[in-house]
Amino acid sequence: MNILLTGGTGYIGSHNAVVLAQAGHEAILFDNLCNSSKDVVQRLEKIIGKPITFIEGDVRNTELLVEVMRNHQVDAVIHFAGLKAVGESVANPLLYFANNVQGTISLLLAMQQLEIKTFIFSSSATVYGEPVYLPYDEAHPTNPINAYGDTKLQVEIILRDLAKSDPQWKIACLRYFNPVGAHESGFIGDDPSGIPGNLMPYLARVASGSLQYLSVFGKDYETRDGTGERDYIHVMDLAEGHMAALDFLANNSGLHVVNLGTGKPASVLECVKAFEGAVGKNLPIQFAPRRDGDLPIYFAKADLAKEKLGWIAARTLDEMCASAWHFQQVQSSQSKSSTEST
Ligand SMILES: NC(=O)c1ccc[n+]([C@@H]2O[C@H](COP(=O)([O-])OP(=O)(O)OC[C@H]3O[C@@H](n4cnc5c(N)ncnc54)[C@H](O)[C@@H]3O)[C@@H](O)[C@H]2O)c1
Repeated sequence: MNILLTGGTGYIGSHNAVVLAQAGHEAILFDNLCNSSKDVVQRLEKIIGKPITFIEGDVRNTELLVEVMRNHQVDAVIHFAGLKAVGESVANPLLYFANNVQGTISLLLAMQQLEIKTFIFSSSATVYGEPVYLPYDEAHPTNPINAYGDTKLQVEIILRDLAKSDPQWKIACLRYFNPVGAHESGFIGDDPSGIPGNLMPYLARVASGSLQYLSVFGKDYETRDGTGERDYIHVMDLAEGHMAALDFLANNSGLHVVNLGTGKPASVLECVKAFEGAVGKNLPIQFAPRRDGDLPIYFAKADLAKEKLGWIAARTLDEMCASAWHFQQVQSSQSKSSTEST
């Protein structure tokens, strides 16, 4: 199949491109590069061993999308493009609604025009909000606590109504938990610019010496060791989950909302320990007060993904940390050699 990956040069999109290409599909990457680099295309070509199509563009440009999908005879779309910084979404909700909601409408209009009706959407566990019970299953009430989560829920509502309006649509809303780790090559991974807002890339920078220590926000939560617990999922497992969803949609129409998580939460201190194991040395941490808006614990009920898609997350926390650390090392050695050659 020819599959358009919006946000294809981003963290999750790029790992999906590898899995799709290795399964014999043609991945067409479409990205405006607002949070990723074109270098990812060459890195992907190195992993996959063949050229990959990349188009620079914004998903709000419906005309361009129509042209691209027509030219590349696209059969299905996986929509990763979006802004994802919670704090920024609270400070600038219009930016987030314009990009994430308007962008999705533009993409769906382009698909409708060409009668392409297979669609996978990157949703998020953040649509659930404050847990009424745990683990979150797909029937848990949705009540996001920030504008980013609101944009994800708005898109889910649009997709629900779209699927109702036309039974030919085949739509999967995949609610990701906390994707971490990197492809085994170390060529692609989570590489935020500036100071990372997420635990794993932060730990990687502490381990490499570019950041001094990790602040652990809150040590008196009602969790196993007092620190926050999250459902971390290896990004390659996540990518394989998309592959399973695509196979599922081949024979199933309608809207399918599915959690992609492991169902097994890990605490901040457990992540630090696993990362230390990968690096082979202790990492400095400092406890800090809880942050507003942080939930003590949340994790997925992952049974529906197994039942419907035949997929489970197989990789361990140690593998997630080892791959994140390997990626950091490859990046550090590449930036060192490029500095030396200038
Ligand atoms: N990483 C996570 O923890 C996480 C968790 C749940 C859901 N998600 C969702 O998964 C998707 C991918 O996340 P990611 O971690 O790979 O983020 P990312 O920022 O690495 O990738 C998103 C990509 O989309 C591109 N993009 C943004 N707006 C665009 C636009 N208007 N037109 C074209 N391209 C645009 C960016 O340049 C970037 O390359 C996002 O929709 C995100 O909300 C991510």
